[in-house]
Amino acid sequence: MHKNSKKGKKLINNLLNFFGIHKKLLENVFTPSSAANLNYIKRTNLEKNIDKNIKQTGKQLILYGHSGGGKTTLIREALKRQKRKFIITGCLSSETLEDLIVKAFDKLNPYYVNNTSEKNSIKISSHLKSSYSGIESTLKGEVSVESNKQYQRVLPIQLTYEKLAEFLGAIDCVWVIDDFHKVKDSEKKKLAEVMKAFVDISNDYPKVKIIALGAVNSPRDIVDHTTDINQRLAEVHVPLLSSEEIKSILINGSRLLNIHLSKTLINSTVKHSNSLGSICHSLAYNYCHFSKIDKTCHIKNKILDSVFKESIKEYLNDKSDTYKKQYDKALKSRGNSYENVKLILAAFLALNEDNVTHNEILSKIQEEEENYPQGNCTSYLQKLCSSKFDEILRYDDNSGKYSFSNPFFKAYCSMKLDENSINEAKKVSDVFEMVINELIKHKKTPYDE
Ligand SMILES: Nc1ncnc2c1ncn2[C@@H]1O[C@H](COP(=O)(O)OP(=O)(O)O)[C@@H](O)[C@H]1O
Ligand SMILES: [Mg+2]
Repeated sequence: MHKNSKKGKKLINNLLNFFGIHKKLLENVFTPSSAANLNYIKRTNLEKNIDKNIKQTGKQLILYGHSGGGKTTLIREALKRQKRKFIITGCLSSETLEDLIVKAFDKLNPYYVNNTSEKNSIKISSHLKSSYSGIESTLKGEVSVESNKQYQRVLPIQLTYEKLAEFLGAIDCVWVIDDFHKVKDSEKKKLAEVMKAFVDISNDYPKVKIIALGAVNSPRDIVDHTTDINQRLAEVHVPLLSSEEIKSILINGSRLLNIHLSKTLINSTVKHSNSLGSICHSLAYNYCHFSKIDKTCHIKNKILDSVFKESIKEYLNDKSDTYKKQYDKALKSRGNSYENVKLILAAFLALNEDNVTHNEILSKIQEEEENYPQGNCTSYLQKLCSSKFDEILRYDDNSGKYSFSNPFFKAYCSMKLDENSINEAKKVSDVFEMVINELIKHKKTPYDE
């Protein structure tokens, strides 16, 4: 019976695909640079925990964990699931908390000024509306005065944290602050104060709250635990996607596009993704692109394993500027007497292992630099794991070992640090070829079968 119903479902799906019903576009299925939507993989325990905290009145929330772990995706899905209204404010390193407040204020314009469609249904007191307009015109005034100088908006005195909480509260809206790790530490300290204003206002407006997302090791890096917000603050750690979850992205995506990926191709993609959803989405996108598939196929289309190599090349091509910038930025940061980053990365690569300990790296460096201080090794390893250094390395608490977050970047570093190969490489394409060779040296891939 069960088998029959499964068969029936498959048949219906085949028919729907054949007639082009429920057709999906490739760019909506594999989403390397945005939150997953159509091809969202459930993470049940995390979802339960997040949902519980969203439901609790007055509870503020922090989601933290490695970049690419799926924080933005999870929170968007959770708010959608709970039919919550929300605005998302992304952060730039140059921004202050005041800038973020102004950005959030601007996003409320459709509710308070341009009474568009569904937004009409919300009753906002005329007092609050006129208060919004008043602040808006003050802000506009400042923009025109400042337009010749460096552009910076000053928070009008009427636009306090409490006021923003009230504007959001009156329309039952959640404020999501994304990538909060990017702002300066001094700004981070102020967040607890703003959250406090949101806790207070939740007595009148139960649905309002702040959800802050950040790529940090500890929520303490976002909100100082000495503040009295603690009781009203929940922290949820978002781990990187597991191999099973990465595999599900590929399998679910294949179903949506009516394609077939071989086991070898799936396993290689999982390995090369190293728990980063964006690599998995990128590679899968490229597989389809090179197989000339841009939407759900009428008849199941088998992707050839041979697309793997060109897909990797394309991925590296897309990333070449990013990697160069990350590499140069990391190497520029050197101490007084030692090129710390260079020494650490070179030692790591010379060890020729996926995971290494602090002591192994230190000993390797000391083979050449006898007096290299342990303290330097410790502090630079820590830096290389931080978002300031683009999380080049990852630290695993359980094993006490470090690894490269991104295997492609690892190969890139190994190529850059090998001076002989740099001299040999004449063109960018040669460099990529070398990176690929570096990758296949260590991993079993579809193209060496
Ligand atoms: N649950 C999920 N299902 C499918 N893809 C996901 C999921 N979570 C994350 N991704 C994908 O992984 C990448 C990183 O996700 P994102 O939410 O931006 O992470 P973060 O905000 O933690 O940096 C994106 O390409 C996204 O589409
Ligand atoms: Mg994010």
